[in-house]
Amino acid sequence: MTVRIGVIGTGAIGRDHARRINQVLGGAKIVALSDVNRASAEAARKDFAPDAMIFETGEALIDSPGVDAVLVTSWGATHEQYVLAVIAAGKPCFCEKPLATTAEGGKRIVDAEVAHGKRLVQVGFMRRYDAGYIALKQAVDSKIGAPIMVHAAHRNPAVPEQYVTPMAIHDTMIHEIDVLRWLLDDDYVSARVLFPRSSTRSHARLRDPQIVILETAKGTIIDVEIFVNCHYGYDIQCQVVGEDGIANLPDPMAISLRLDAKKQSEILTDWKDRFLASYDVELQDFINAAAKGTASGPSSWDGYVAAITSDACVAAQESEGAAISINLPDRPSLYN
Ligand SMILES: NC(=O)c1ccc[n+]([C@@H]2O[C@H](COP(=O)([O-])OP(=O)(O)OC[C@H]3O[C@@H](n4cnc5c(N)ncnc54)[C@H](O)[C@@H]3O)[C@@H](O)[C@H]2O)c1
Repeated sequence: MTVRIGVIGTGAIGRDHARRINQVLGGAKIVALSDVNRASAEAARKDFAPDAMIFETGEALIDSPGVDAVLVTSWGATHEQYVLAVIAAGKPCFCEKPLATTAEGGKRIVDAEVAHGKRLVQVGFMRRYDAGYIALKQAVDSKIGAPIMVHAAHRNPAVPEQYVTPMAIHDTMIHEIDVLRWLLDDDYVSARVLFPRSSTRSHARLRDPQIVILETAKGTIIDVEIFVNCHYGYDIQCQVVGEDGIANLPDPMAISLRLDAKKQSEILTDWKDRFLASYDVELQDFINAAAKGTASGPSSWDGYVAAITSDACVAAQESEGAAISINLPDRPSLYN
């Protein structure tokens, strides 16, 4: 079976997902596109999906009988309305992060999916599909004993002028929030944020860097450094300290040079290159599940928990170092 996919939002990631579905992956075809900026949908059709129909609204695309499954890759604030409409249509839905921009929005999606009675939504937390994180999880699960601490870092060389302090959580650390829960098979109970002095490369509305400290239900303490003006490169680090040993996330492959009396290897500078292969694996997983009329991988529940945790981290940014509790509702059995 070929899964007929519609894409809502044909900006950077929507176009890229359309390209990989039509040119790299198997079992699916892009048959429909929609974007509030019609020219963007037309450009995506020309470049990657010549047979696709363009729909004036996302809702019309969702309701089309010719569309079996939907990718929601529009701006974050518009995800909730589309995901709810896709669930109402009973179709599988891949939603880029964030699932919703508020915890209440995440809850509305979880409630709708639970009422439907079957998983339909996969959230675009692609790090769970990264070969390095998968190897790290195997080491955490079977080699280093019970995890006690995690030291992580998310560093970008620079960010646009409009990037402000809460975005370090909502846009940047959201990936650590999801992948570390998955890595440890644990839930967060509190968040604290510490600010060292700001980098001189930052500006008045962005306190950068910052350190987020998360405590888990099993008592693991996680520190995540978010440093989005680090200047030197795009660098993701993760070290798990267990009772018997330590496991580190591998760096991306890079040629090791001996040159000019120095040992050197390059560090990536563009975030798009860091998890490139994992986008292919996550979308193939979506296609395979959609062919069976369902979804797997990161769920609406994971998207909802990420939204609750993000809200707590943003509150912790404003609490002058005090811990903010993270209270999760009971997990519906659909997500066990
Ligand atoms: N998983 C990842 O690593 C990753 C990477 C990049 C982006 N994202 C997420 O993907 C989403 C899109 O990001 P992007 O970088 O492609 O942004 P973008 O601005 O390049 O593209 C977004 C597109 O959505 C369209 N759009 C906006 N509102 C719409 C609406 N109501 N209906 C239909 N189309 C609408 C815009 O016209 C634009 O073409 C964001 O939520 C972002 O956080 C995730």
